[in-house]
Amino acid sequence: MKLNIVCIPGDGIGPEIVSEAKKVLNKIAGVYGHEMNFQDVLMGGASIDAYGVPLTEETIAAAKAADAVLMGSIGGNTVTSPWYKLPPDKRPEAGLLGIRKALNLFANLRPAVLYEELADACPLKKEISSAGFDMMIMRELTGGLYFGERHTTQENGIRKAVDTLTYDENEIRRIAIKGFDIAMKRRKKVTSVDKANVLDSSRLWRKVVDEVAADYPEVSLEHMLVDNCAMQLVKDPAQFDVILTENMFGDILSDEASMVTGSIGMLASASLNDSKFGLYEPSHGSAPDIAGKGIANPIATILSAAMMLRYSFDLDREADAVEAAVKEILKKGYRTVDIMSEGCTQVSCGEMGDLLADEIR
Ligand code: IPM
Ligand code: MG
Repeated sequence: MKLNIVCIPGDGIGPEIVSEAKKVLNKIAGVYGHEMNFQDVLMGGASIDAYGVPLTEETIAAAKAADAVLMGSIGGNTVTSPWYKLPPDKRPEAGLLGIRKALNLFANLRPAVLYEELADACPLKKEISSAGFDMMIMRELTGGLYFGERHTTQENGIRKAVDTLTYDENEIRRIAIKGFDIAMKRRKKVTSVDKANVLDSSRLWRKVVDEVAADYPEVSLEHMLVDNCAMQLVKDPAQFDVILTENMFGDILSDEASMVTGSIGMLASASLNDSKFGLYEPSHGSAPDIAGKGIANPIATILSAAMMLRYSFDLDREADAVEAAVKEILKKGYRTVDIMSEGCTQVSCGEMGDLLADEIR
């Protein structure tokens, strides 16, 4: 297969981890006979420094023309970086929100998996973590509070800020369908998370999810309130297969779920549109404090590249090979510093990339 991949290395540790993911993809290309072309483009802080804006039309056009996009991370230290002196719509994060919208990436998949080899990193009690867990958070990514009308005003000397949470049934239906489709390939359970005891948007969410569920008789559906879900994630994470939820709830719950694994440096994500196109990025941020030190964990980005092979290119065998390499290297005891534990061998970002690429034969 001939694949054109646009890479957004981004800010902080982004460039280091993306370059390790390319190493692994190049190895996959060699072993399985594919041709992969990479084109690097700027976004976020790097784009602000070069062009004064976090996202350019050129970057959007390059991404649209590509078969998929692989991203590192964007953003800097929100207290010390000059990027955060700019107005909100000129900051690095605006680039990320802008590209999600421009490419219509409404379905965000965030797996949270407890790896057997890293079970000790899980901050939960043994009696909870011993059951293991493997869930997929499906977050709606282009609607809700993030993209609703917002403004800040002053009335009679009182400052007032407004954000609006809007969903129409089509926006809910398309993410629900993706959620059920993915559940069919997994353990066939969907937990739809909302705040239907308070919000109208959540009551509509529930109705539409019920309608979609009627087309998936094999999938069991339950509805859960978001505050309860936040508790259940730490009480009994093994109960979850697919968690289907709106943008803001998904933002918060996916961070919670990743923390519960204890190894956020391992968690991948995919953001998909209606077709096979997607943007793939690690679930973690740009970690400006460790940027350039060569100690970042590239595995989340490498596993995001595996998701790209699976979801955008239908290359399941190749994706399996990358995921198997990760498991094998963990089993052999190699760790970057963030997941280091006694008796293991600590390696750098680059060494981890080399080890994983070597493991694919
Ligand atoms: C994420 C991030 C973004 C979000 C920020 C950086 C705008 O937290 O991808 O979860 O809130 O969506
Ligand atoms: Mg977030």
